[in-house]
Amino acid sequence: MRFGDWGARLSPAAVADLLEAALDLGIDTLDLADIYGGHTTNALIGAALALRPGLRARLRLIAKIGIVMTASPGNTRGVAYYDLSIEHLRDALRDTLSALGTDHVETLTLHRFDPRIDPAAVADWVRAEQREGRVGDFGVSNFDAHAIALFDGHLPVVANQIELSLANSGAIEDGTLNATRARGAEVHAWSPLGGGDLLNLHSPISGRVHERLPAMAEEFGLDPASLLLRWVASMPETRVVLGTTKIERIRDAVRACAEPLPRDAWYALWEAARGKAVP
Ligand SMILES: NC(=O)c1ccc[n+]([C@@H]2O[C@H](COP(=O)([O-])OP(=O)(O)OC[C@H]3O[C@@H](n4cnc5c(N)ncnc54)[C@H](OP(=O)(O)O)[C@@H]3O)[C@@H](O)[C@H]2O)c1
Repeated sequence: MRFGDWGARLSPAAVADLLEAALDLGIDTLDLADIYGGHTTNALIGAALALRPGLRARLRLIAKIGIVMTASPGNTRGVAYYDLSIEHLRDALRDTLSALGTDHVETLTLHRFDPRIDPAAVADWVRAEQREGRVGDFGVSNFDAHAIALFDGHLPVVANQIELSLANSGAIEDGTLNATRARGAEVHAWSPLGGGDLLNLHSPISGRVHERLPAMAEEFGLDPASLLLRWVASMPETRVVLGTTKIERIRDAVRACAEPLPRDAWYALWEAARGKAVP
């Protein structure tokens, strides 16, 4: 999300370098969406893949589709509405593959829940795309417990990509996380550092977390960002979807996520973020 016009504005060569370095660290999955960069970032990734033969084959691409952006000039980040109609999904997948310069994606993910969704029709369409080899697995994003249940009996869901961090742990308490795990799907935690906000002290949540964070980070031999990531990665069946554009930070994150936090430390941070003890 942050490689292109919505962030670091990396060149195709810099993206290719970053992807190769991440692969060398064992990170092979790249999260994408057609809207990122105001519909420009998939093409940036495609240009990077075209520069380095062999790179595409080593990567697992997650392609999110289903959001329609506002057309107003100068407002490239505005969301107009969600569209999970087959017509929209078909066009969006075609455009995604074309921009990436690939004939398939490993996971096709519905970016946001559209109350007008027809789950049976979506499942039929996804299965047809899977038979054609354009789509591997099927995932959802920002689907609550009831929304993910709509696919029961229609299509296996391999992952639900949701916001999850010490800045927003609502999915733990509202049933989203349980519903995801109950279906055997992975939790993909987006904005695990609150989009970077957890690292500055100005919000009430990060202020409370930072009362505990530096001392605890030192205790575990980690920097504060790594401890925040370890907190997220300590949740079962959960992978962090990190937004950094810097390889040193990916290296730190790999180390951070390699082992879970003990329960006492995990609860201490969660209670600091919630501003109240567990009952
Ligand atoms: N499904 C959805 O609706 C949805 C919504 C939002 C995001 N996402 C996905 O989730 C990914 C992550 O989201 P995010 O970028 O908001 O998450 P994040 O990982 O919480 O935040 C990344 C931001 O924090 C900064 N940062 C500062 N210190 C850092 C450190 N020590 N380690 C790592 N990053 C540090 C990064 O800057 P530097 O680049 O300078 O390191 C970057 O700007 C996105 O790229 C996207 O793929 C999905």
